[in-house]
Amino acid sequence: MSTMTQNQSFHLIIPAAGSGQRVGGDIPKQYRKIAGKPVLRHTVERLLNIPGLNTLQVVISREHEKLYHDAVAGLPLALPVYGGKTRKESVLSGLKALPEIPDVAHILVHDAARPMVSRAEVEAVLATLRVYDAATLAAPMANTLRHEDGHTVDRTGLWSIQTPQGFHRDLLNKAHEQFEKDDSFTDDAGMVEATGHTVHMVRGSRMNFKITTEDDFIMAQKLLAESFETRTGIGFDVHAFDPAPASVIRLGGIDIPHAQKLAGHSDADVVLHALTDALLGSIAAGDIGQIFPPSDMQWKGADSEIFLKEAARLVAAAGGQIGHCDITIMCEAPKIGPHRDAMQGHIAGILDIAPARVSIKATTTEGLGFTGRREGIAAQAVCTVRLPVEE
Ligand code: CTP
Ligand code: MG
Repeated sequence: MSTMTQNQSFHLIIPAAGSGQRVGGDIPKQYRKIAGKPVLRHTVERLLNIPGLNTLQVVISREHEKLYHDAVAGLPLALPVYGGKTRKESVLSGLKALPEIPDVAHILVHDAARPMVSRAEVEAVLATLRVYDAATLAAPMANTLRHEDGHTVDRTGLWSIQTPQGFHRDLLNKAHEQFEKDDSFTDDAGMVEATGHTVHMVRGSRMNFKITTEDDFIMAQKLLAESFETRTGIGFDVHAFDPAPASVIRLGGIDIPHAQKLAGHSDADVVLHALTDALLGSIAAGDIGQIFPPSDMQWKGADSEIFLKEAARLVAAAGGQIGHCDITIMCEAPKIGPHRDAMQGHIAGILDIAPARVSIKATTTEGLGFTGRREGIAAQAVCTVRLPVEE
């Protein structure tokens, strides 16, 4: 069997079809969120950009179809295939789904439940496959081992086996054929070894543990907690009153009875405009006029909720979470107090955050300036956003 490939292309199978019996919970462990992302997404994101990767095949359970698609939304992945009752069956369905490409000699298998794997570890397994046909990450046992029947097991020479495990495709196929009816194997390395082939151990970090119990979730949480920074955005906007008589004015996304409305290209909601600019400011994404040019006729009379939603979408796309918004409305009339709660609830709904994270305040300017002369309304907003720190 040839072991050297020039450009080392490989396929990768991620078995993710288990039900996570040992940890339990409402949803299977690979779909539970850690540091804001499902475990499976952490795993996939760490493996997607490794040079030489040809096909990344995730194997899922038919029952988790929706959880899966939500977890990997937006990632460039082949469609998943369905696994079986055991991890071994799941790997085999992944194996069968992989394209036969002559240049792609190696297959890596990595547990969905090991999101802490590092790129260096995957590359170490790939490097070993340049020399040997089978390799697995493993870490030496650290603790004293004792059998429950009452004797200490000598830990010398004992390793805890991890993934990724990598094999020449022929070897992995052969092992799965030979042991098709044998359900005793919990990993591929063990099965390949049982065919009489040596599997080389590549020393990995103990941090690449498999999430199996609740303790593991707590440890993984600490290891995967991305470092976030807090950004503050500020926004300010003014609209003049429209001279034409009206019955309602749109402020903070709600219609308040008032004899004048504000003039503007859109619905002139000065409150939502200030807040939209604050959100855009937190991610340095320009301002409302850049994204929705007033020269563009499609925004004529537009509901300003559209602008705020887009700003919130951009914040989310940057990985941000809105911490809090604080808005001050400056006008002599209408009175904001009676509508404060409605406005707060409405804005919280648009941003999909708790109302307690939205503050609405109002002030007159004591008859001074353009707001004091009742020529228009001004609004200012600040917001805080938690953003992952770019490496
Ligand atoms: N796996 C799989 N198909 C199965 C069983 C397991 O694809 N029938 C996957 C799991 O989703 C996991 C990996 O194999 O990513 C390692 O298995 P394990 O940690 O045992 O996961 P579960 O079987 O889900 O957990 P448990 O054994 O606690 O039920
Ligand atoms: Mg299992």
